[in-house]
Amino acid sequence: MENLISLVNKIQRACTALGDHGDESALPTLWDSLPAIAVVGGQSSGKSSVLESIVGKDFLPRGSGIVTRRPLVLQLHKIDEGREYAEFLHLPRRRFTDFAAVRKEISDETDRETGRTKQISSVPIHLSIYSPNVVNLTLIDLPGLTKVAVEGQPDSIVQDIENMVRSFIEKPNCIILAISPANQDLATSDAIKISREVDPKGERTFGVLTKIDLMDKGTDAVDILEGKSYRLQFPWIGVVNRSQADINKSVDMIAARRREREYFANTPEYKHLAHRMGSEHLGKMLSKHLENVIKSRIPSIQSLINKTIVELEAELSRLGKPIAADAGGKLYMIMEISRVFDQIYKEHLDGVRAGGDKI
Ligand code: GDP
Ligand code: NA
Ligand code: MG
Repeated sequence: MENLISLVNKIQRACTALGDHGDESALPTLWDSLPAIAVVGGQSSGKSSVLESIVGKDFLPRGSGIVTRRPLVLQLHKIDEGREYAEFLHLPRRRFTDFAAVRKEISDETDRETGRTKQISSVPIHLSIYSPNVVNLTLIDLPGLTKVAVEGQPDSIVQDIENMVRSFIEKPNCIILAISPANQDLATSDAIKISREVDPKGERTFGVLTKIDLMDKGTDAVDILEGKSYRLQFPWIGVVNRSQADINKSVDMIAARRREREYFANTPEYKHLAHRMGSEHLGKMLSKHLENVIKSRIPSIQSLINKTIVELEAELSRLGKPIAADAGGKLYMIMEISRVFDQIYKEHLDGVRAGGDKI
């Protein structure tokens, strides 16, 4: 199964490398059909922190105010062994092993597009992380929803961010991680509001409750976590991310995860829920869910790949050989992907016929 998710990662990477956004070719359609997981929520609700703890690495700019100003498309690739590293699509020949440098590059690349302002841009940054310690996932970090423009931002920013977020999460293949902070009233949650709009039945929305450690004394999140306040198809997951003080003190990820585990195990209110709380559980659940989604989509992804091949062939013959080098390269890569895909699909069918579950 790992194979299948890793293949989807490859296809997504190829699609991004091949098709410019807004290209007339069929590639964006192919890209759109593949599942990814996006984080949505209000500003400073803990979106970037949640992504970081799923990845188990410090590499995202975090903090108060509008820090995430461009979408970040993050592909996690599990490798068997070796040192972990990161690569940006816009810097193809550079391997980052220092994750503080990754964070800096995300900030710098954000600024390159938007200037050093509080402006936002919908042009994504593409980052891949290769590590033995991740599950194969594609995650999208999005700018936070906000209610008012601040100094230096146009009034339209509130609507601009909402539209940008919606353009990602309205795709039926997008799995939504709706982030709500526990120290605010759930009824005011931007994440719930917008995810309900695009996924009214909650079929692809995971509710994540952050900042449980910051709730007022005498209150707890049990009703929410048990699904009694707002019901979603999937159970709510509570997390405790690092506080700003932790970040300032450079509390590392391993220590943070241990503390999170201890928090749920040792807090009387949450003890009975501890087995399905926390960032690690969230990561595992998402990976499992993604597998199920991909499995159910295999036939339609395959027919899209075939359609893409047909369209590229048509493009090739329309352009004629001499100027078709680029299209030829595309065709070759798509066919290569398709070949691997056919192989895996065949194995899948064999598995189904044998009544087993091979992938
Ligand atoms: P984003 O704007 O939604 O991406 O939120 P960030 O991940 O940047 O987090 C905003 C601030 O809230 C940072 O200072 C984090 O340290 C802090 N934070 C996020 N989650 C938690 C949490 O579960 N507990 C505590 N105490 N602080 C958190
Ligand atoms: Na923030
Ligand atoms: Mg953020």
